Amino acid sequence: TPLSAIINLNDFEHVAKQSLSPNAWAYYSSGSDDEISKQMNRKAFQNVSLRSRVLRNVEEINTSTMILGQKTSMPVFVSPAAMAKFAHPLGECAIASGVGKEGLIQVVSTSSSMSIEDIMNARVDKDQPIFFQLYVNQDINKSKALIRRAEQAGVKAIWITVDSAVIGKREQDERIRAKVTNGGAISQGQEVMGIGRTMGAIITPRLSWGDLLWIRKTTNLPLVIKGIQCVEDAILAYEHGVQGIVLSNHGGRHDKLTLNSAQAPLLTLLEINKYAPFLLTKMEIYLDGGVRRGTDILKAVALGATAVGLGRPLLYALTAGYGEDGVRKLISILRAELMSNMALAGARNLGEITRAMLNPSRLERD
Ligand code: FNR
Repeated sequence: TPLSAIINLNDFEHVAKQSLSPNAWAYYSSGSDDEISKQMNRKAFQNVSLRSRVLRNVEEINTSTMILGQKTSMPVFVSPAAMAKFAHPLGECAIASGVGKEGLIQVVSTSSSMSIEDIMNARVDKDQPIFFQLYVNQDINKSKALIRRAEQAGVKAIWITVDSAVIGKREQDERIRAKVTNGGAISQGQEVMGIGRTMGAIITPRLSWGDLLWIRKTTNLPLVIKGIQCVEDAILAYEHGVQGIVLSNHGGRHDKLTLNSAQAPLLTLLEINKYAPFLLTKMEIYLDGGVRRGTDILKAVALGATAVGLGRPLLYALTAGYGEDGVRKLISILRAELMSNMALAGARNLGEITRAMLNPSRLERD
């Protein structure tokens, strides 16, 4: 399929399904157990309707904003996702150069298929910001060393993923029982239980709020916690002094054992609006999971999100030999959608996207 024939993010998913090996497709696409959370993430967006404002002269639309003090051309970032090389030989490097040209920020996974140094070198220039996502290792010293290494490489923030305390069951993935042969986070010759499970084996189950102390002492970079799933923990994160949180159920992959049914992040954002709205002005709040349309971005921003993340779509956009061109195409599709959605909703910039533009009553019934 030529890139010119791709008109939305679902098209990329169809192409990926055709072109990826069964192994890679299962690893990228699979959700936990019955994939309920993965479906709920989409449903949550679909259950919010919009209340447009008209007659506002929407000739000029500006989608730019800041994430942790770094400029971004849209309130969108690339969520950390492991093993991009399954999709394209240039893997995470192709994402780095593609998003750099489109002015977005990439969060690089601990389990990337390429080194953080190589990915930093693939940037369009030295000013292109990249963030680093950390899975805290069983051996804390390894994690401290990794934070310092990422800092040395020039990353602008550390995102700590906390929703993967134990390894979940990903049935599609495990059916394949893929043999992973390349290095990175996976040591060679390790018994393979399905790609996801193998990668999870290095993550510590002992992490707790107190660990933020040594993490804070290890680096002065902004800290973000990824994987907040209820308003109570959003408040705790704020009390522990982090600069941002990602509301996420890990794309419904949920690495937690049997925690399929984890609620959609949009619902968590709604909880924050209801029970702790002060948080929205105290730290940056992002969400990811199921974002596929300009209207999804608009809805999250209306509820106070600083930005939203995309996981699977970026991996899909790399497939079929598309590489960097696919990444750029994906971003330009989303940008065009968001700009026309904003114009039709009556918002010329992100500040004009207000809570009142939403009717979340169907989501509230959830
Ligand atoms: C992920 N995700 C993830 N998250 C993280 O913090 N570290 C990681 O290494 C990975 N790896 C990973 C691999 C793959 C193949 C996927 C699909 C996802 C989760 C990711 O950051 C994000 O939360 C979800 O992908 C968002 O949902 P969507 O956009 O995929 O629906």
